Amino acid sequence: QTYKPLQGKKVLVTAGGTLERIDPVRYITNDSSGKMGYALAEEAHRMGAEVTLVTAPTALKFPSGVQVVEVQSTEDMLQAVVSRLEEMDIIFKAAAVADYRPAVQAAQKIKKSGDELVIKLVKNPDILQTIGERKTTQFIVGFAAETNDVDKYAMDKLIRKNCDLLVANDVTEAGAGFGVDTNVVRVFDRNGLVEALPMQSKSNVARRLLQLAAERIKGDN
Ligand code: PMT
Repeated sequence: QTYKPLQGKKVLVTAGGTLERIDPVRYITNDSSGKMGYALAEEAHRMGAEVTLVTAPTALKFPSGVQVVEVQSTEDMLQAVVSRLEEMDIIFKAAAVADYRPAVQAAQKIKKSGDELVIKLVKNPDILQTIGERKTTQFIVGFAAETNDVDKYAMDKLIRKNCDLLVANDVTEAGAGFGVDTNVVRVFDRNGLVEALPMQSKSNVARRLLQLAAERIKGDN
């Protein structure tokens, strides 16, 4: 392949659902197969980028030619992303990050006892917001998985988390969101809707998103 618009660029992609332990045998997580993030990593590599894939556990094979950093919890993912932020040109936050984690992680298996078990959850750091606040020249692409008022929540997240682009998928729509091989997305920037991509493979969606990022960083420099 000769089309390499990301030659010389460093791209970091997060993928999968972060996993928060309750005890050694139980955890909570979010729905995410990792397919969207892995497609981004694979296509970015094809387009010439030096790619780092920060991935929560998934059932997928690691893409070749890509540096893989395996993480579990949101705290781990935050560390992995923030420690590499400065050297990156483009960051895609396709991971489904757990917003809360158990306040206490039991060291031993919790035994069955009463009819109810209450697990207290505490808020996790927001990785996208953290890098949005700290970014200097990095081009940051956030994602939003929504079930209603997609455009409104997408624009709100874009502004609040200081992203350059935000990719919204309505996870109630057939052929969109987590698990499936296709996606249907609406891409926003600060001025509003940039593009609406009809249902297509996650690889094609990834390629288009990478093209948009490549065009926009070229304009910047
Ligand atoms: O993995 P697949 O099965 O292919 O599915 C793909 C996907 C639906 C998971 C993906 O396309 C997607 O939308 N990912 C983001 C899902 C999500 O967590 O959305 P959110 O609206 O909760 O979060 C918004 C953004 O903030 C995301 O970029 C998320 O990575 C980030 N975030 C959220 C919470 C948090 N504590 N830290 C974060 O960085």
